[in-house]
Amino acid sequence: MDDSSPGNSARSIDRALEQSLTTTWDARLVEYDANRFPFDRWILGRIRAMGYPLEDLTEIHKVVPPAEVYRLTKQLCADTNLPEFRRMLNRFVREIAVGKGGLVPPVAVQRFLNVRIMLPDRPDTIFPFHTGLLYGHGIASRSIWMPLTDVSAPESSTASMQIIGIERSRELVQYAIDHRLSVEQMSDLFGRESRPLMAKPGMVCFFTQENIHGNFVNVTGKSRVSIDFRVAEDRYGDLLARKIPAGYFHLIPDTDEEEESAEAGPALVPDNGRPNIHYINNNTSSTFGIPAHLQRYMILDYCRQKNLNYEFELFELEDMPHLPTLDHVIRNLKCNPILYSIFALPEDDEPRNDLLRAALRNGLIMRFVNEDLVLASDRDLVTINRYLEFAKFGRSRMPIGLPLSGRGERMLSRWTAR
Ligand SMILES: [Fe+2]
Repeated sequence: MDDSSPGNSARSIDRALEQSLTTTWDARLVEYDANRFPFDRWILGRIRAMGYPLEDLTEIHKVVPPAEVYRLTKQLCADTNLPEFRRMLNRFVREIAVGKGGLVPPVAVQRFLNVRIMLPDRPDTIFPFHTGLLYGHGIASRSIWMPLTDVSAPESSTASMQIIGIERSRELVQYAIDHRLSVEQMSDLFGRESRPLMAKPGMVCFFTQENIHGNFVNVTGKSRVSIDFRVAEDRYGDLLARKIPAGYFHLIPDTDEEEESAEAGPALVPDNGRPNIHYINNNTSSTFGIPAHLQRYMILDYCRQKNLNYEFELFELEDMPHLPTLDHVIRNLKCNPILYSIFALPEDDEPRNDLLRAALRNGLIMRFVNEDLVLASDRDLVTINRYLEFAKFGRSRMPIGLPLSGRGERMLSRWTAR
């Protein structure tokens, strides 16, 4: 048998993925230089800049009124998008996640990081034990948990994250599915089998979307602050389930030099004086299951945020993957289409590029809400195609945006089997 068939190469990639998941990324603590990557001091600085006289992150509960902690957390999550933070983070990803985690560049990093503040003695704020897969993340996505306060001592264990190895996690999740366990039963069972991560700034935990993890009530009397985020490799860009590249993951430069020379931010989009049209379709594998009214809500919200006018809305024709309505908007009406996503574009490379080049030639501006991307220049076309390529659009192993699980495949086959 020809060993170079696409099926075989997909299986050997899967073997490499399984090997990586069950070794390097199986809830493993990895060291980094906290002076080179002072995430803890950066976050402390941001909190102080917001006017809180905080000296130590473990004292947040004494300095920030409880009613303000949620707002503070949301602000810190948003701050992780600031250029100076992104530069430090991207460098960290290249050196630690790629370097020590054996990932293969290009890689993409979660767009908005999670910054979490875990106050002491707050049983009402505990997130139940879970896995990434159960929350719609794909098998190939990698998680990094980074404590910004010291939870390395045994007496700090309740402030740390609790985790279970991948092999046992797989058994336990299967057990929970088979026995239809409640959230309480899962918390009890998973909590009993978990172990705390004895970590502090200078250490991160690499883990997979299959490692069960969660928290207990923090009874240390100290606040715990942590950051967590995900990284995805280009080679497994179609194994990210509902967390779609470009919307959820942003590609980062492969080297520090590329990062330095990268053009700053997106260019300002000129007003071309053409009317905007809302365009909705259910014709691609990724938009098939997204109801028109939900796409419409996203588009309307986007227009409000960006202060964009719009004249009317057009629908794509069902069962016509060559997208004649979009073609009509671009080639004949010559209006600016606002699409729900880049994954609402034609799946075949050639007709898609043809259409997008026609939009550029006609001086149109296309907007893609889910990814916050714009097509107004040749450079934008390269970016959009880069993300579609990352996700293996048109060639993905599962429809982009659907979870890759045995149960999902069985559920879908109920309708597709003839
Ligand atoms: Fe989680």
